[in-house]
Amino acid sequence: MGSSRDLLGLFTLFVVGVQLVWGQLVLDMGSTLSMNGIYYYLPSKPFSHGYTSVYAASASGSKSSRLGLVPITVVNSNAATSNLAALENTLNAFSTQDDVWGDGFLSAIILQGTSVQGFGGSTVNVRNRSTTLATIQASTKIPQGPYFISPIGDLYQPYRLYPDTEGAFTQPMGPFDAATATYAALPATVPGISSPGVAVPSRLYYTRTAAQPLAGVRTGIKDIFDINGLQTSDGNRAYYNLYPPRNATALPVQRLIDAGAILVGKMKTSQFANGEVATADWVDYHEPFNPRGDGYQDTSSSSSGPGSGIGSYPWLDLTLGSDTGGSIRGPSQVQGVYGNRPTRGLIPLTNTMPLAPELDTAGFLVRDPTIWTAAAKAMYQDALPFFPQFPPKLQTINFPLPNTTASDSTKAEANAILLAFLSKIEAFLKLKASPVNYTALWDQVKPNATLPPLSVLLNRTYPTLISKEQTKNVRDPFFADYAAMNDGRTPFVDPVPKARWAFGDSLPASELDVAVANKTLFQNFWETYILPAGDNRTAYCSQSIILYSSGVNILYRNTYLQPPRPPFGFDDSQISIFAEVPDFVVPLGSASYNSTVTNHTEVLPVSVDIIAARGCDGVIFSLVEALLQAGIITIPLAGQTITGGEILYKHK
Ligand SMILES: *[C@@H]1O[C@H](CO)[C@@H](O)[C@H](O)[C@H]1NC(C)=O
Ligand SMILES: *[C@@H]1O[C@H](CO)[C@@H](O)[C@H](O)[C@H]1NC(C)=O
Ligand SMILES: *[C@@H]1O[C@H](CO)[C@@H](O)[C@H](O)[C@H]1NC(C)=O
Ligand SMILES: *[C@@H]1O[C@H](CO)[C@@H](O)[C@H](O)[C@H]1NC(C)=O
Ligand SMILES: *[C@@H]1O[C@H](CO)[C@@H](O)[C@H](O)[C@H]1NC(C)=O
Ligand SMILES: *[C@@H]1O[C@H](CO)[C@@H](O)[C@H](O)[C@H]1NC(C)=O
Ligand SMILES: *[C@@H]1O[C@H](CO)[C@@H](O)[C@H](O)[C@H]1NC(C)=O
Ligand SMILES: *[C@@H]1O[C@H](CO)[C@@H](O)[C@H](O)[C@H]1NC(C)=O
Ligand SMILES: *[C@@H]1O[C@H](CO)[C@@H](O)[C@H](O)[C@H]1NC(C)=O
Ligand SMILES: *[C@@H]1O[C@H](CO)[C@@H](O)[C@H](O)[C@H]1NC(C)=O
Repeated sequence: MGSSRDLLGLFTLFVVGVQLVWGQLVLDMGSTLSMNGIYYYLPSKPFSHGYTSVYAASASGSKSSRLGLVPITVVNSNAATSNLAALENTLNAFSTQDDVWGDGFLSAIILQGTSVQGFGGSTVNVRNRSTTLATIQASTKIPQGPYFISPIGDLYQPYRLYPDTEGAFTQPMGPFDAATATYAALPATVPGISSPGVAVPSRLYYTRTAAQPLAGVRTGIKDIFDINGLQTSDGNRAYYNLYPPRNATALPVQRLIDAGAILVGKMKTSQFANGEVATADWVDYHEPFNPRGDGYQDTSSSSSGPGSGIGSYPWLDLTLGSDTGGSIRGPSQVQGVYGNRPTRGLIPLTNTMPLAPELDTAGFLVRDPTIWTAAAKAMYQDALPFFPQFPPKLQTINFPLPNTTASDSTKAEANAILLAFLSKIEAFLKLKASPVNYTALWDQVKPNATLPPLSVLLNRTYPTLISKEQTKNVRDPFFADYAAMNDGRTPFVDPVPKARWAFGDSLPASELDVAVANKTLFQNFWETYILPAGDNRTAYCSQSIILYSSGVNILYRNTYLQPPRPPFGFDDSQISIFAEVPDFVVPLGSASYNSTVTNHTEVLPVSVDIIAARGCDGVIFSLVEALLQAGIITIPLAGQTITGGEILYKHK
């Protein structure tokens, strides 16, 4: 039989039964299997019981693995399976929709439903192989897709194990345990150098509905958000080891779970969500790899794992990051994906490590805008209203590009992409964009003539806020707990957070109030003279849409760095952090550069940032969906470029 070929390729690597052996508690952690060269993880708990007759039919005549597990496919019987050609079409669709199901699961096909006719107990040819057909008519249907069935009639849902070749994850996660309402670290991996396996379930099991708009959406979580049952690292090894698994889940994560998202792992953050540059700054954890271009560009930070993972892996759908001073937007720009810094305060950041509560936000890094909007609706809920019209004004800041580190020829390509986008969005919105010079306007209208230019007013605001807040809220309790557990010792801290915290220590407590006052001055100026806070009684919420771009910055990870210093300075990317407005990254295209790594011309992503009024995030989500439908923007692919391609130098 055709199925025996598959079963010869099925190896059981390990399985430990649940049993007490001479008083030892032996826990079943599940199994790792390989079939046709693909690795699978089987959880210890079966998905369903009582299919002994199905096993008898499935296993008839086929060779079995040591455990007797047989890979099978469950298909709903309906019009789509009423004859063999229709059944074959259904299986062909499985093959294109799903990366977990494969022909190996055709040892047997189980048709489930009440009106199965003409099949059953027979052997048929589908997808060029001989397959056993059996039927079940259970009262409760199980999701169709791939399963392994055991000799005692237990059905297991297999998870496909992918290697984390780009080092984006800190801790892959096993399946949710409904009995204890916890997650656990994934106790499985794949062969290869230093790449943990990440386990994903079949896409065939899930249907997105109004109640479960993220059903089956494979999601990675930046490792500053707590998840019940898992330790949190905040990017620091001492911190990870000091504290036990968390007993609560951060609200942003909980809302994604409630909407059906499948959590597949915690992802790397630069330490305590401070900005770090590869490689010298990343002492405790190695920075993930940016898949784009030559594969040796910085990932930007602090949502580096989410940016790297969503830019690299087609099997990952959604990542949750945080943005205090650019930590979602930077990684989105350099990895060529969509990313949103939301209006501050759209969701309470419970059980989430703070940097500066005055600035902290939670948002997404994602390739598909449809998933982006669905995730945002699920996470921000009523705080994210939508509006029937687009704003009546379009403005630009320093457009197309501010100064960047790219060559003139790279800049020229990026400018051309940005200007082409500008004319398309002008035509789409039927608006002519006007430039706004807010730094010059400030000089004219500032509330007190003695106030300096914005570049001076806000030069120290960000480093003051984050260092005064994080020393108090994170560093001090961490150091005290660590000292208590380690005979008065201090834990290791990376150079960047250490330098920033030292800056905070050098300032009097009153400096925090000064920083907040400067931030408030800017926010009031912005809302008075540039863009008033959103008005949800209007049809368009925001009076204007404002575009700017951070350009293409070539930043090799094999560069020797200067010692870190506090992040002084002010630029356009900080408008949103001080004015609390939404700032979304939209990938547009690629510009070429001559790589010093490959001695070859490579391309890096070019993106635009879109700002709307405070509270008008829904306007940008709607605009992005409309621009996608109009073909003005596209869905970037994972890989070497946003149009796909093998990632260079990835370890296999
Ligand atoms: C079955 O074999 C035919 C002829 O070799 C081939 O064209 C077709 O792609 C095969 N189908 C599958 C699902 O492998
Ligand atoms: C959860 O953990 C926190 C911090 O360790 C602790 O204070 C709290 O009592 C725990 N709650 C429960 C329900 O165990
Ligand atoms: C632009 O950046 C380059 C390189 O960093 C620098 O030499 C140059 O002075 C900058 N130009 C302006 C106008 O800021
Ligand atoms: C904005 O105004 C400032 C001060 O007047 C000027 O130096 C700068 O070049 C202007 N920026 C743009 C993009 O015109
Ligand atoms: C303007 O600032 C100066 C210097 O800080 C201060 O003395 C003065 O009272 C301020 N004026 C107003 C109207 O706030
Ligand atoms: C910003 O602050 C740093 C550190 O105090 C200083 O070196 C730099 O000159 C300042 N820049 C501006 C524009 O004030
Ligand atoms: C606040 O603004 C003043 C100018 O009014 C500036 O001198 C000071 O450095 C700023 N401080 C912070 C922490 O933003
Ligand atoms: C409009 O915004 C106000 C203030 O934020 C809020 O209380 C109200 O619920 C919002 N209304 C709608 C329809 O979203
Ligand atoms: C790459 O190098 C070649 C040869 O020096 C040059 O002509 C070309 O403009 C460079 N391309 C870019 C994008 O810098
Ligand atoms: C890089 O490429 C150029 C031609 O494009 C070639 O002349 C040069 O030898 C190459 N350098 C190395 C180190 O291979």
